[in-house]
Amino acid sequence: MSLGSKLLNQCSKPSGWLGKLTLWRMNGHHSKVTEWGLKHVSIQNHDTILDVGCGGGMTVARLAAIATEGKTYGVDYSEESVAASRRANRQSIEAGRVEVLQAPVSHLPFPDRMFDLVTAVETHYYWPDLNADMQELLRVLKPGGALIIIAEAYKGGKYDRLLQRLEKLKGIMNYAHLSASEHSELFSKAGYSNVQLFEEYDKGWICAVGRKRG
Ligand SMILES: C[S@@+](CC[C@H](N)C(=O)[O-])C[C@H]1O[C@@H](n2cnc3c(N)ncnc32)[C@H](O)[C@@H]1O
Repeated sequence: MSLGSKLLNQCSKPSGWLGKLTLWRMNGHHSKVTEWGLKHVSIQNHDTILDVGCGGGMTVARLAAIATEGKTYGVDYSEESVAASRRANRQSIEAGRVEVLQAPVSHLPFPDRMFDLVTAVETHYYWPDLNADMQELLRVLKPGGALIIIAEAYKGGKYDRLLQRLEKLKGIMNYAHLSASEHSELFSKAGYSNVQLFEEYDKGWICAVGRKRG
């Protein structure tokens, strides 16, 4: 496997020392797009929130700082990501305001209708069955709750040419490469309502929000 594909695989499932380094870099690198994306949903201080594909835990920390009377959960299928998220949120975990669990998005260890908000930052590209996984997130949302997907790469976006080159690596690293309208369709097909799409073309950012029918 080439160094390029090894590095790309670290984004989809961080592991070992290279994974630790990747997670540390992503915490910094994804901060601005996450801040922008989260402006498109309202977050209340008593909310119960899930960040799926939580990586190094920066988004969990950001959400927990807002939902001070609620609880924030992080989930990731990578052991390295779970460890990094736990380190980044140690104090909030000790205070019982944050929990980080190892699980795949396809089988979440939560009951139906638990969350006011689910966030997914730079992770949906790698999910094994996008439609079924979106339905699994719908299952854990409360009626009226929202899922927000925030991403820095999409078909037709600023980094499209780079993504087209990465397409050639398919098979080595499998990932979904959706356009803006395909993001909307993804939400609608999985059963979400009030689907909204926001783009910041100059930065190459996109975010999509959908709600569970109330
Ligand atoms: C590019 S990183 C983004 C991490 C973090 N959300 C951030 O913004 O920095 C993608 C993360 O999604 C996780 N991930 C990918 N596929 C997953 C799946 N099927 N179930 C759970 N987590 C997954 C990876 O392990 C990794 O930690």
